[in-house]
Amino acid sequence: MKITLLINKEEKTFDIKPDEKLLDTLRDNNYKSVKFGCGEGTCGTCTVLIDGKPTLSCITFTAHAAGKKITTLEGIGTIEKLHVLQKSFLKEGAVQCGYCTPGMILSAKALLDKNPSPTEEEIKKALDGNKCRCTGYGSIIKAIKNVAE
Ligand code: FES
Ligand code: FES
Repeated sequence: MKITLLINKEEKTFDIKPDEKLLDTLRDNNYKSVKFGCGEGTCGTCTVLIDGKPTLSCITFTAHAAGKKITTLEGIGTIEKLHVLQKSFLKEGAVQCGYCTPGMILSAKALLDKNPSPTEEEIKKALDGNKCRCTGYGSIIKAIKNVAE
């Protein structure tokens, strides 16, 4: 079936299977920042924003995203022009293998868009669904705090 999605402010039409997951549609179409981790909604590496809300694309049907605003990391920063959160993650060493980083940054962006001065507890709560196996989270929380301040 044909579907038109609004991804990073661009309308794109795809031919998808009726039960296709958004993660697959995005990765198959070169939105490679969206990572496959567990595939069952528990790790957060596949996080994208839908209408500004962190959403697990591995358990979201592509068809359900029609008519909504989808944001991936490609839509907020580029190698030439990093987003302020990306700069802060690099500065604080909050990126090790980097696998969790796109999802972390999108969850952080959703939080800061809603609440520009979150407490540490609010940051931890916002990252609750995003797992990181490398950093121990301290540097990630610090990177987000820097931007919040
Ligand atoms: S791949 Fe989606 S939550 Fe793990
Ligand atoms: S930096 Fe490796 S999983 Fe987070």
